Amino acid sequence: MKNLAIVGTGYVGLVTGVCLSEIGHNVICIDIDQGKIDKLNSGKSPIFEPDLEELMIKNIKSERLYFTTDHSEAFKNSEVIYIAVGTPQKSDGFADLTSIEQAAIQIGLHAKRDVIVVTKSTVPIGTNEKIKNIILQYLVSDIKVDIVSNPEFLREGSAVRDTFYGDRIVIGAECQDAANLIEEINKPFQIPIFRTDIISAEMIKYASNAFLATKISFINEIATICEKIGANVEDVAIGMGQDSRIGYQFLKPGLGYGGSCFPKDTNALFHIATHEDYSFALLKAVIDVNKKQQTLLVDKVKQRFGILEGKKFAVLGLAFKPNTDDLREAASIVNITRFIEEGAEVIAFDPVAMQNAKRILPATVQFAQSIEEAIHGTDAVFIVTEWKEFIDFPLNKYVELMKKPIIFDGRNCYSIIKMMGYPIEYYSIGRPV
Ligand code: UGA
Repeated sequence: MKNLAIVGTGYVGLVTGVCLSEIGHNVICIDIDQGKIDKLNSGKSPIFEPDLEELMIKNIKSERLYFTTDHSEAFKNSEVIYIAVGTPQKSDGFADLTSIEQAAIQIGLHAKRDVIVVTKSTVPIGTNEKIKNIILQYLVSDIKVDIVSNPEFLREGSAVRDTFYGDRIVIGAECQDAANLIEEINKPFQIPIFRTDIISAEMIKYASNAFLATKISFINEIATICEKIGANVEDVAIGMGQDSRIGYQFLKPGLGYGGSCFPKDTNALFHIATHEDYSFALLKAVIDVNKKQQTLLVDKVKQRFGILEGKKFAVLGLAFKPNTDDLREAASIVNITRFIEEGAEVIAFDPVAMQNAKRILPATVQFAQSIEEAIHGTDAVFIVTEWKEFIDFPLNKYVELMKKPIIFDGRNCYSIIKMMGYPIEYYSIGRPV
């Protein structure tokens, strides 16, 4: 078992740290935020992620997992240091590498033994080389430093599961001994390992996210055409997915993709291509389609009501997808902002994301404590995230509680056949009305 340090305790860093300790390694996670570290050491996860907190508490108790703000303490005995800090999008579309550079400087200053630095964060092509150069520039001790690119493919909301049951682990390295060691560390996960060079590993991550985003924008375009011609996009997706070359996954139409990854990574890859004098036309279309898709319900409700001034709308679902409290690039933000700009009153409900939403959404948004409270007396309900609570909600309650039951369902939560049994005006995505 190895001594590992993880820089950054966001989604990727924390999940990686907890899961690596669960398979037996000694893990120290580092973050610059003392409040967060205190919370983590007391067994509280700062993010909502199924199974994470339980595994975290278990491994803290087994003394395999520890959190600190002290880089020198964390790096002293670490054979491997993972960089898992954020790479947010800058206003020019490129990834902001400030946290990556800071992590590299700290490694240079505090690493005390030969070390392998593993990049987990999604970084632009060539960043691993930059990381190595920064570390060498700041290196205090006389040690050997190897770099490995080991992109992560976990999804928010199923991050722990994805780490244990992922499809592949990609290891990009120049030094084969370093790659061997990272392979050995990951062996207990029993996931197929694919080895390549560093630049190809960096590209695998961007290309994977861009391809998944392409599938989503593609099916959303098909959904729009289905609406026009009277076809049902869900049947179309099933019929397509039965072809194993296409597959069923990521063909669910809706209000587009959000979250901290697809929007940021598709933009970053587009800018990387542009920087190389190449216009990535397909990816540009994927990004544009997604922007349009996110506010599709605004267009639909305006068609239905004309003006929105004075209308009272319930928005169900604020997180960018179910099972997370994350609102980054969520469709809820753009939709609610548009409703408010157009003069509508908005009352919102989300099973777990309301605390985060209160910090982000316009101040005039009201928050309900239940679905019933949210929809009561409203002119229309908008389903923006497909939480199970909404899917299981009895449809007769919309009839009982709303002024006149009108639902704009941005995630196709209810079957068309089921809806026919209720006096509800129902609009969904890519299906016959
Ligand atoms: C995504 C990838 O799925 C992970 O493999 C990757 O590791 C991660 O980004 C990352 O780069 O860190 P995540 O953003 O957590 O994971 O969420 P997804 O489950 O992929 O969903 C992203 C968005 O696409 C959500 O807004 C979701 O509602 C939307 N989506 C997904 C659809 O609209 N239709 C689909 O069929 C699938």
